[in-house]
Amino acid sequence: MNLAARKTVVWPPVESRDWPESEKGLLAKLSARAMPRHVAVIMDGNGRWSKQQGLLDRIRGHEAGIESVREITRTAAMLGISVLTLYAFSKENWQRPRHEVAALMRLLERFAVQERDELMENDIRLETIGDVADLPSSVRREILKTVELTRGNGGTTLILALSYGGRDDVIRAVKRIATEVAAGNIDPKEIDEDYLARYMDTANKPDPDLLIRTSGEFRISNFLLWQIAYTELFVTPVMWPEFRRAHFLEALVEYGQRERRYGGLGDLDSPPRPARP
Ligand code: FPP
Repeated sequence: MNLAARKTVVWPPVESRDWPESEKGLLAKLSARAMPRHVAVIMDGNGRWSKQQGLLDRIRGHEAGIESVREITRTAAMLGISVLTLYAFSKENWQRPRHEVAALMRLLERFAVQERDELMENDIRLETIGDVADLPSSVRREILKTVELTRGNGGTTLILALSYGGRDDVIRAVKRIATEVAAGNIDPKEIDEDYLARYMDTANKPDPDLLIRTSGEFRISNFLLWQIAYTELFVTPVMWPEFRRAHFLEALVEYGQRERRYGGLGDLDSPPRPARP
């Protein structure tokens, strides 16, 4: 399985020469080798940020959030993170007021068009997960154009989760497998975790190592349910429009300090056990 091979990066990244000392300090605590391969983000708090700023329109928060998307994506690329998945629009988000959904769709379309140069310059490939067919045709068309344009890029893969739901992802995978079973192409006994993973939207991608949620809510909100079985969670009170490179570096530093045990004992098991008499 191609699990998004890590690109060799110059370390520390050349661009970090211009960073403030505080960010250089955080960077010094990281190493290219210990970097998560896949970071997923629940970008939350745009509406509350607007309110805090005294703005009457929640849309302003979504607009401001674009700058965070740009900065986090560029930083992920700089650090050699293979996959960055952003929860941009959930299946449930269709229930929001019509004008908010329309504004989010406009922002997505504009993002797909305006970021083309930036994505090409930084060798970033754009992909999507979710039911892209649900999106208005003009939005879908511009996103697919950018996906096509960036297909050959070999750096970070930026995945936008669009009209995405974790349960929906599982259901669509199960339906496709059931069709294969009904056609006699696979024996149900052969279905295991790897097999199911190949039918999920994230096929051929490593599971997220780190999931960041902004705005302080301790919820998963139907994001990548299957894929985050052993993902490290990082929740920050910072609202998404204010989440910048320094916050991202802090999350990565904390990730580097976590001991991942995958249900085993990890280092807890390392002290030599006394020999049995
Ligand atoms: C949650 O904040 C955020 C969203 C539902 C949408 C996220 C979208 C963006 C950051 C902009 C578009 C993205 C791209 C990639 C172009 P919320 O509205 O639920 O905030 P609240 O919980 O404070 O109300």
